[in-house]
Amino acid sequence: MEHQCVLILDFGGQYAQLIARRVRELGVYCEVHPHTLNLGKAAQLEPIGIIFSGGQDSAYTEDSPKCDPGVYRLGVPILGIGYGAQLIAHQQGGKVTTPDRRERGRVKVNVNADSRLFLGLAPEQDVWMSHPGCIEQLPPGFARTAHSGATPYAAFESTGLDKTPLFGLQFHPETEQTDSGKEILRTFLFTVCGATGDWTMADYAARAVEEIRAQVGDGKVLLALSGGVDSSVVAALLFKAIGSQLSCIFVDHGLMRKDEGNEIMQAFKNLKLNLVRVDAAERFLSKLAGVTDPERKRKIIGEEFIRVFEEQAKKIGKVDFLAQGTIYPDIIESGTGGKDVLKSHHNVGGLPERIDFREIIEPVRTLFKSEVRALGTELGLPACLTGRQPFPGPGLAVRVIGEITREKLEILREADFIFRNEITKAGIAPEISQYFAVLTDMRSVGINGEKRTYEHTLVLRAVVTCDFMTAQWARIPHNVLASASARITASVRGINRVVYDITDKPPGAIEWE
Ligand code: XMP
Repeated sequence: MEHQCVLILDFGGQYAQLIARRVRELGVYCEVHPHTLNLGKAAQLEPIGIIFSGGQDSAYTEDSPKCDPGVYRLGVPILGIGYGAQLIAHQQGGKVTTPDRRERGRVKVNVNADSRLFLGLAPEQDVWMSHPGCIEQLPPGFARTAHSGATPYAAFESTGLDKTPLFGLQFHPETEQTDSGKEILRTFLFTVCGATGDWTMADYAARAVEEIRAQVGDGKVLLALSGGVDSSVVAALLFKAIGSQLSCIFVDHGLMRKDEGNEIMQAFKNLKLNLVRVDAAERFLSKLAGVTDPERKRKIIGEEFIRVFEEQAKKIGKVDFLAQGTIYPDIIESGTGGKDVLKSHHNVGGLPERIDFREIIEPVRTLFKSEVRALGTELGLPACLTGRQPFPGPGLAVRVIGEITREKLEILREADFIFRNEITKAGIAPEISQYFAVLTDMRSVGINGEKRTYEHTLVLRAVVTCDFMTAQWARIPHNVLASASARITASVRGINRVVYDITDKPPGAIEWE
């Protein structure tokens, strides 16, 4: 074993990958395995610690998932979280029941600062609690280390320094809503398990390269490269692993931002990647002519994208693998009990039907966005690619309200470029998650010199968010908005009014269409 390894046993739900991300953030290598992992395989990993994740329904019942109780004899410290804590309590001889009431959300717990896990923490902690089960009685040889008003055993641990330490947390240290969550995980890993923090993103890249080589052999791989962070990182990773066995297709639908298509080509030029750029703007724009309904626009773009991709793929010939830049948040868990039945969501319109391939490869499917960016940097991708904000698959089509024309696209590109440039100049880009301009279909009266004008209204949109599921409108300094507005109205033909969108999500979506 090259690195120290922490084993995460997955009991279902979506907890295990978030725990894995936190462990990786602390510089410790970890592997997520289903809870059914056999004992021999677990021992082979020579883990320095084991974490039981939360579960699908997060309460222990007689028929809920269990791991081989032999795991307690491996002599390795174990931390159970949520469902995992209840399982430890049950398997060690405590009593777990399922009351009707569930404690959920951010609650205050009192922690025992003498606990090995909470050493140095303030006695009162805000934590994220989510469990319907209730530990009524601790197993013999265990002590309570935290409680809340509704949860008598919010945390517990085995006593007796001669025994392998076992810990249970009914709350979730892996979520951002638990204030000292990272500290607690750090203490478990470094103080209890003896981790040294010997793992880096370079190790991740090296391992991923090995795995891709083993999976692909001398097969051919095809990738749709959009220039977004995820597909760009997958391209760089695959290229490092299999070089010329990889072919990439970049479908330029003519709905990219200013200079974006050229930037993407430029960024990959040095890599000597097999990359075909298809200039399909004419096709997309003629299909979109006269269409105003947002859902129709999306559907047309999704379908046309697949047709263009299929046509190009045919020219490349038979491929064995179709690669995708699916990342963990794209994956919707549809299985139970950590059985790894996962359904992928696709960026633009789904999978092509007429390409004959054997398998899909998704080499970054266990990573979160920030990790994908770090991997891209590790692989030598330029900051203009790794730092890119999310950009919707249908591109500017959903930022030109109403009918899409070349002229409107041109106006939007110029205005959007100026807004982004002002944000960069002001040095506030790192604080904003996504920022862009939207060209509305509304015109209003204005004045230019002596002349009355009747032109488009442009919206500036900027949001701050962790997960893009909810978002706050960004409090951009007024002087930055003022410069953007002045520059746009002075230099972009066709816009005489600029407004700033002050709507959170919900109720507004981030995009306008
Ligand atoms: P909404 O507008 O739903 O957007 O609040 C949430 C995030 O998703 C991006 N977005 C898309 N990304 N394909 C994508 O890959 C799409 O069709 C798409 N539509 C919206 C949006 O930019 C924001 O970051």
